[in-house]
Amino acid sequence: MASSLHISFLSFSSAPSLPATSRSTSRHIRCSGSGGGGGSSSTERQQLFSRIAPVYDQLNDLLSLGQHRVWKRMAVSWSAAKSGDRVLDLCCGSGDLAFLLSEKVGVDGKVFGLDFSNEQLLRASSRQYSLAKSCYNNIEWIEGDALNLPFTDSFFDAITCGYGLRNVVDKPKAMREVFRVLKPGSTVSILDFNKSTQPITVSFQEWMIDNVVVPAARVYGLEEEYEYLKSSIQNFLTGKELEDLALYSGFSVVDHYEIAGGLMGNLVAKR
Ligand SMILES: C[S@@+](CC[C@H](N)C(=O)[O-])C[C@H]1O[C@@H](n2cnc3c(N)ncnc32)[C@H](O)[C@@H]1O
Repeated sequence: MASSLHISFLSFSSAPSLPATSRSTSRHIRCSGSGGGGGSSSTERQQLFSRIAPVYDQLNDLLSLGQHRVWKRMAVSWSAAKSGDRVLDLCCGSGDLAFLLSEKVGVDGKVFGLDFSNEQLLRASSRQYSLAKSCYNNIEWIEGDALNLPFTDSFFDAITCGYGLRNVVDKPKAMREVFRVLKPGSTVSILDFNKSTQPITVSFQEWMIDNVVVPAARVYGLEEEYEYLKSSIQNFLTGKELEDLALYSGFSVVDHYEIAGGLMGNLVAKR
């Protein structure tokens, strides 16, 4: 499958900018020369997400009992993306949010799905063709780094990020980049696991990871990869801390919503 996809590599040296009119065939994955954010742990995460790519969608459906689709719809709705908009799905993985955005912005809009894992992008690209909805032609996949976005300032009408910020090594820098590429008055919607301040929610979340998520991942030989989930939530930011980070990055209106009984959270920040 992967070998049938057209991948082209564009070498950008630093903070390259895609022109507003940039269009390419949708089987095309652009490479913005992501260095993985510098630092070995970013490279390790890149490799981790490439390893789990083949089973990522299956496990999401299984472990959330399909609920992640509802949360992703909510995230897209909070982004306020509308028909004709140019939007970004940051850390797009296999493209769930990008596909939802594509339906929102329609044929007159444009969606960029950016991720630093080529394997995830190949899955996104192949789903784009197997799902075969005409509006999905408005999606372009870009291999790039959330810490060095290959777009000019004030480029996007809306941005989504699903389960990505928690995995980015330098969260303040990622937020500054999101702020930079968003148009004034536009919104970013960031969905992720909620780092709850309620001990009972934390206990339940950790029990689920230890007793449901990791054993399910073991079936696919990905136990170690999913063990990382617990520490990534522990090292993440609470809703209040995410709001503070957004304000500190320059956003003017910020709200963090707890969803799924506090297991998940969604930061909505308006530039
Ligand atoms: C848990 S997956 C989420 C994928 C998708 N957004 C979803 O909701 O299903 C996190 C994604 O973030 C990507 N990622 C992590 N750090 C990144 C970075 N610095 N730049 C670009 N992508 C990154 C990973 O490659 C991975 O595909």
